[in-house]
Amino acid sequence: MPGGFNMEVLIAQQVIEDRVRELGGVISDDFRGREPVVVGILNGAVFFFADLVRNITIPVRMDFIRARSYGSAMESCGKVDITKDIEIPVEGSPVILVEDIVDSGLTVAAVVEHVMELGASNCSVCALIDKKERRQCDVQIDYLGFAVGSGFIVGYGLDYNEKYRYLRDICVLKPGE
Ligand code: IMP
Ligand code: MG
Repeated sequence: MPGGFNMEVLIAQQVIEDRVRELGGVISDDFRGREPVVVGILNGAVFFFADLVRNITIPVRMDFIRARSYGSAMESCGKVDITKDIEIPVEGSPVILVEDIVDSGLTVAAVVEHVMELGASNCSVCALIDKKERRQCDVQIDYLGFAVGSGFIVGYGLDYNEKYRYLRDICVLKPGE
């Protein structure tokens, strides 16, 4: 794109921090006595995951999964390649999936299905961002950070071509002049 991008802060660092603390509190209350497995979806969820688990005040186990969605209109929701699987046993345990952003919903829908196939007792979804406009699959988000409209966002783990993940604020990328 000629002229590159302009970037505008959409959700500031402090706002993110406060919301993640709240989510940690709610999850702690909901899962007290159940020792859930908290599973981060790589790469985008890294910072959200790290901040969230440190705001959870009950014992949890942690692991990561990496998935690439390749859904199309002709396929049912939830076709993905798992390129790095969960490695700790989740059979019989509640799992909390931690995702950066739910856009079409393909990734989360497929990963939930996969987690249930691994024998988890149930699978909750905690997403930092819900971007509903392009949703193709009906996914239930149990714990949500923020709902946003359209637009491409970066920062706090979210990337554009692997760039900008390190930004502390969540920003909207806008085409430059
Ligand atoms: P899905 O369409 O819900 O399967 O989302 C797939 C992935 O697309 C997400 O996990 C993000 O990594 C990426 N994604 C979707 N929208 C955005 C965005 O606005 N910024 C950065 N990444 C995005
Ligand atoms: Mg992602």
